Amino acid sequence: MQAAKSDIRIVPLADVTDTIAELADLLVAEWEPYYGPRGPGNAVDDLRARCNRNELPIALVALDIDNKPLGTAALKQDSVGSKPGQAPWLAALVVNPLHRGNGIGTLLVAAIETEAIRLGFTTLYISTNAADRIVQKRGWLPLDTVTSLRGPITVYRCDLHET
Ligand SMILES: CC(C)(COP(=O)(O)OP(=O)(O)OC[C@H]1O[C@@H](n2cnc3c(N)ncnc32)[C@H](O)[C@@H]1OP(=O)(O)O)[C@@H](O)C(=O)NCCC(=O)NCCS
Repeated sequence: MQAAKSDIRIVPLADVTDTIAELADLLVAEWEPYYGPRGPGNAVDDLRARCNRNELPIALVALDIDNKPLGTAALKQDSVGSKPGQAPWLAALVVNPLHRGNGIGTLLVAAIETEAIRLGFTTLYISTNAADRIVQKRGWLPLDTVTSLRGPITVYRCDLHET
């Protein structure tokens, strides 16, 4: 069953470390070439490293009313396509396929923007070929096209302001 948007809570991963195994399964399923058994990445290690509150990397988690994790996003120092001088990045944005199209990705993007502002950043970047609609609607500007394991992706910049 789809979770109602009003029932979704976004919390730091540091508050819900018991969700790491389930979120890792989501990362492996989405980015199999990187996080799968033959890939170089380790999803559990990456998620554990994002259990910070006041320094990068930080992961946020979308929870439903029963505290089940439905998605995650991270604020990181770098990401695919990052160049010197460009930081921080919204990365590792993923929503459980059963719950997509319900606004959870947008909630996670908004929460990462707020988190970046809280930490004093004035600019935020993302490289994506899937969250384009979300960031474009929120006023992010396309900067560049870079090549990823998934082909060409667009780099966007968000100028953060407290409103
Ligand atoms: C991208 C993603 C996080 C969006 O999550 P979501 O909860 O479905 O997002 P929302 O419900 O807030 O959708 C917002 C918009 O994005 C669009 N959208 C969702 N998934 C999309 C996709 N795969 N490709 C293009 N657009 C997509 C929706 O149609 C919606 O647009 P609309 O409001 O104009 O109809 C989710 O599709 C996902 O986990 N994808 C796989 C992982 C990935 O590629 N992550 C991005 C890496 S940075």
